[in-house]
Amino acid sequence: MSENNYKHWKPEEDQDGIVWLHLDQADTSTNVLSYEVLGEFEQLLEVYTNQPPRGLIILSDKSSGFIAGADVKEFGHFESEDEAKQTIERGHRIMNQLENLRCPTVAVLKGFTLGGGLELALACKYRVADRDYSTKLGLPEVKLGIHPGFGGTVRLIERVGILKAMDMMLTGRNISASAAKRMGLLAYSVPERHLLEAARNTVLKPPKPKPLPWWLKLLNNKQLRPLLAKMFVKQVSKRVSRNHYPAPFALIELWCRHYGNRERMLREEATSVARLITGHTAQNLVRVFLLQEQLKSLGRMNDYAPKHVHVIGGGVMGGDIAIWCALQGFNVTIQDQKHETLAKVLKRAYKLYKRRLKRPLRITEALDRLTPDMAGNGLVKADIVVEAIFEDATVKRELYKTIEPKLKADAIIATNTSSIPLEELCDVLEDQGRLVGLHFFNPVAKMPLVEIVCGKATSDDARNRASAFTKKISRLPLPVISSPGFLVNRVLMPYLMEAVELAREGVPLKIIDDEATAFGMPMGPIELADTVGLDICLKVAENLGQHMGMDVPELLKQKVEQKLLGKKTGQGFYRFEKGKAVKPAPDKHYTPHADIQDRLIMRMLNEITACLRDGVVESEDLADAGVIFGTGFAPFRGGPVHYIHERGAEQLIKLQEKLASRYGDRFKLDEGWNRFISPDQDN
Ligand code: NAI
Repeated sequence: MSENNYKHWKPEEDQDGIVWLHLDQADTSTNVLSYEVLGEFEQLLEVYTNQPPRGLIILSDKSSGFIAGADVKEFGHFESEDEAKQTIERGHRIMNQLENLRCPTVAVLKGFTLGGGLELALACKYRVADRDYSTKLGLPEVKLGIHPGFGGTVRLIERVGILKAMDMMLTGRNISASAAKRMGLLAYSVPERHLLEAARNTVLKPPKPKPLPWWLKLLNNKQLRPLLAKMFVKQVSKRVSRNHYPAPFALIELWCRHYGNRERMLREEATSVARLITGHTAQNLVRVFLLQEQLKSLGRMNDYAPKHVHVIGGGVMGGDIAIWCALQGFNVTIQDQKHETLAKVLKRAYKLYKRRLKRPLRITEALDRLTPDMAGNGLVKADIVVEAIFEDATVKRELYKTIEPKLKADAIIATNTSSIPLEELCDVLEDQGRLVGLHFFNPVAKMPLVEIVCGKATSDDARNRASAFTKKISRLPLPVISSPGFLVNRVLMPYLMEAVELAREGVPLKIIDDEATAFGMPMGPIELADTVGLDICLKVAENLGQHMGMDVPELLKQKVEQKLLGKKTGQGFYRFEKGKAVKPAPDKHYTPHADIQDRLIMRMLNEITACLRDGVVESEDLADAGVIFGTGFAPFRGGPVHYIHERGAEQLIKLQEKLASRYGDRFKLDEGWNRFISPDQDN
């Protein structure tokens, strides 16, 4: 096979008659199973079905991994459930053909092997994997509102048993190569240098497949399935509601009803995914996925390769930012005025690294990258300086004056300020363009978004570098203009303040939170305020109040005066036990007013509309992305702006006007709503 007629695949036959089939999808850095890639694969399988080689080894030529899944961009194109089903059935035919080849088949896995990629590997007789920690196997389909749809539900259960398979499919979590080996998913898990040899040996001396233990097989028994299914449903219901996220429930039902009849279960898998994928939830979750890709693409600046980060201020934020950057592979120096603060940072770092990295060598390596630096020696080599000292413009300005002369000419200064306009900080600098905001959220290790705050003087170069840096530390950059509250706090605060107002009116706290979670928020606003810290909420709210005339409820001020700050003090609105809010059950006879949810959500929607009018972000898509990744706004609704479009602006405007007549000016309709009703507004 000297001439290659394929755009994405490269078959090579070795002297033993083994075909090494390389996937190197054209014009992209990551392999996905696009329509075209699968089409060529089908043609190749046709050849191998007619003339089976001695063995077929499928491998990737990309450094990013094996195959990252199906092509999510194609998910939005289906006109009907029928059309989706045909596409899925085509995938089934291809996987079945691979499974039925009359020769040993081996998938060589390293890096990411996800979704359809893992399903393809499962249709091979064997899998071998690089045992490096960068190898990640998973079926994350539930995160997109579907479940595996290329035969993966059947094959994974057959391979590893129902308990492990359901755990992987219902949570969508990735597993390491060693975990995969332990559960029987891999023939070999070896160091990268032995990977190809392991694949070759697997073809030449195919290992005997290990059957599942009898008790695991028993769990698939017709009588036991309904009992176990009930348990799975109970587990899933604790995390998500069936109305909002139907996919995990559909998966459990698929197994419960059809396992045991392989052909039927495969057929029903296709029907189920076709239904899910064309449904509301999946379409919106696909939208969220694509928004995430859009944010990542803002961080692409290929020729920027920062190495050293210097963080000033080792408190709650600076400490965690430094810890995170070192975890992500950067050399970090962390400066503070106090020794004790730096000692605390190292202690926190050890705790996080131990949890995340597990292996002692990797923990030591990460700790080695994080250097306490009272004297600020790291300034001279820093490519980026992150400032996270007290929220005080005078103190910050003083600091900038002293550090600038020590910096490299192209180093940027990134402030984590949450409220001070960059214009009030930059004029002490020789090079004002180098100041940009990097607004991280607390806790840094959990919050995926970073607002890239641009003042009037911020240079494009500083903005691009800050975005690229954010992407390099596995965070999502969202460019916003320097204006009060930026995007996320500005949209979040009115919602939280409305919740406090409801609490003041005597609405039971649990009811307020339940109304928000019923809408799809991951956590109710009262619990969220307690978690963020009521002192922090008060500070942000007062700042917004000052600039935008938002009222700050007295009740919040009282709580802070009484030092009831929330989770961190064990008592805020709720009492916290072992880090969990204790929510008293409301009085049985209490009947809540029907508009609680509307009041909470409309405050948010009105504010996002105002942000668009003020040009805080560049587009509606970026506004949605920011609010979803910054506040957790119900992902299955596709974002607040998308929700306005879906539910209909006219209807929401009427609702807002009704609330304004009932509750006054805080519900005053923002002029920005016009963009949704006048057809010539751009998106
Ligand atoms: P913090 O009070 O916990 O930490 C500030 C640290 O800076 C202290 O350890 C202090 O010793 C140190 N420091 C002060 N002046 C210094 C100087 N000249 N040189 C070296 N170290 C100095 O404050 P926190 O909460 O970490 O906030 C820091 C910044 O991050 C503020 O601008 C704040 O607005 C912002 N922010 C805070 C968030 C939060 O949830 N706490 C969220 C997002 C931003």
